[in-house]
Amino acid sequence: MSQQTLVLIKPDAVARGLIGEVVSRLERKGLTIEEMRMRTMDAALADAHYADHVEKPFYPPLKEFMTSGPLVALIVSGDESIAAVRALAGATDGRKAVPGTIRGDLSLSNRENLIHASDSPESAKREIALWFS
Ligand code: CMP
Repeated sequence: MSQQTLVLIKPDAVARGLIGEVVSRLERKGLTIEEMRMRTMDAALADAHYADHVEKPFYPPLKEFMTSGPLVALIVSGDESIAAVRALAGATDGRKAVPGTIRGDLSLSNRENLIHASDSPESAKREIALWFS
């Protein structure tokens, strides 16, 4: 079933010149880029986007990183796109992510892990509304 998911190409990926690499991997998989927008996250958007994580110990440095520079937000669609994008992204921790995945090939960090992808249909709906309202 075709689904929409929200993808963020995080500030580390933008700073490293990896926007094209990430978009290319999504396109080569057969996913469709429906919307794409570059912007810098402010504190309020960070708190809303990461509502499930604001109380966690890793949140303050995560917020600092995510608001540190421009990122690219995308609406990506395709058959089972939520699972498909998460499989392409790989495990959260780039040090452990399997080679062949975006994080496995390109990240060596648990925080600066290049890409965010919605983890469920509910999160996708909530996150798309936050970023593309
Ligand atoms: P993301 O998919 O954007 O969702 C939450 C983010 O928090 C995650 O990717 C990482 O960037 C970051 N994160 C998750 N767990 C940790 C952790 N233990 N330490 C540091 N950052 C983390």
